Amino acid sequence: MKKVIVLGSNGQLGMTIKDLTPRETLELSFFSRKDLDITDRNKLTKAFKHADFDYCINCAAYTNVEGAETNIEDAFLINAEGAKNIAKVCKAYQVKLIHISTDYVFDGKKLKPYTTIDTPNPINEYGKSKLQGELYVQEKLKEYYIIRTSWLYSLHGKNFLKTIISKIKNDETLSITTGEEGTPTSCLDLSAFIFHIIETDKLPYGIYNFSAKGSTTWFRFAKEIVRNLDAEKLDKISPVESFKTLAKRPKYSVLSLNKTKRYFEELSTWQKSVRIMVKKI
Ligand SMILES: NC(=O)c1ccc[n+]([C@@H]2O[C@H](COP(=O)([O-])OP(=O)(O)OC[C@H]3O[C@@H](n4cnc5c(N)ncnc54)[C@H](OP(=O)(O)O)[C@@H]3O)[C@@H](O)[C@H]2O)c1
Repeated sequence: MKKVIVLGSNGQLGMTIKDLTPRETLELSFFSRKDLDITDRNKLTKAFKHADFDYCINCAAYTNVEGAETNIEDAFLINAEGAKNIAKVCKAYQVKLIHISTDYVFDGKKLKPYTTIDTPNPINEYGKSKLQGELYVQEKLKEYYIIRTSWLYSLHGKNFLKTIISKIKNDETLSITTGEEGTPTSCLDLSAFIFHIIETDKLPYGIYNFSAKGSTTWFRFAKEIVRNLDAEKLDKISPVESFKTLAKRPKYSVLSLNKTKRYFEELSTWQKSVRIMVKKI
C-alpha cells in the first residue's frame, strides 16, 4: 500500500482526488491550506518527518491569473517558493513528487501542440511563477513528475464549466472569447493519470503533458457545455474576439499528448469528458 500526501486538498483537483478515494492500493493523507501552508518549511518538515510517504501530490497553487498581475509576490511565494519547499522536503525524506503545472508556461506563438521539450516563455505573472516552481523542482529533485495541464474543470470550486452552467440556468446571455485555443481538461481525467503514475510506479521521471484529446476555443467549449445542458439555450452564447484583461493569455496553448500516450491509454476527447461532467452536475 503506497502512502501519499496530497497538498492543497481543498482546491478543485485536490477535492476530485478525495472524491476518488478510498483506493485499495493507496493510503492518502489530505492537507488543505489551513492544515499545511506550503510556504511554511517547518510545518512541511513536521508533516513529512515520521510519515514515510512514498508520493506527494502538489495541488496547492496561486491560481488567480488576473490577480497574479498585481499580487506578484504572493504568486511567486506560493507557486515558486512553495514548490521549492516541497521539493526540498521530498528530497530530504525520499518522497516522489507529482507537481502540477500549466500550459501558461508557453507564450502561445507556436501553431502546433507544445511538446514537453519545447522551451517555455510565459507571458503573464502566473505563468512566470509556475515556471519558476518547475525549475526549482527540477533543480532540487531527481524523482519528480511535473504534469502540465490546461483549462481545468470539476464539480468543485470555481471553474469555467460551472460558471457557464450557473449563468445559463439563470437565463443570462454570454459573450465568450474565440481568441484563444487550448484544451479543456476534467479533473477526473487528470486524477486518473495521477493515480496511474503512482500505481504503476515505473514511469520515467520528468515532464508530462496532460489534457483531454483535441482542442477548442473558450467559445466552442461554452457551446459544448450548453449543448449538453439544454440545447435550446445555445443562442444565449455569442462569440467575441477578446476581452481587455490585465493578464495576457497565450493565443494557442494546446499540449502535445504524444509522450503521455506512450504510458497512458485512457485519454478521452474533450467533448466526451464535458458530457460526463455536465451529467454529474
Ligand atoms: N485551474 C486551471 O484551469 C488550471 C490550468 C492549468 C494548470 N492548473 C494547475 O493545476 C493545479 C491545481 O489547480 P486547481 O484548479 O485545483 O486550483 P484551485 O482550485 O485554485 O486550488 C488550489 C488550492 O491551493 C491552495 N493553496 C493556495 N495557497 C496555498 C498555500 N500557501 N499552501 C497550501 N495550499 C495553498 C488553495 O487554498 P485556498 O483556496 O484556501 O487559497 C486551493 O485550495 C495548480 O497547480 C494549477 O496551477 C490549473
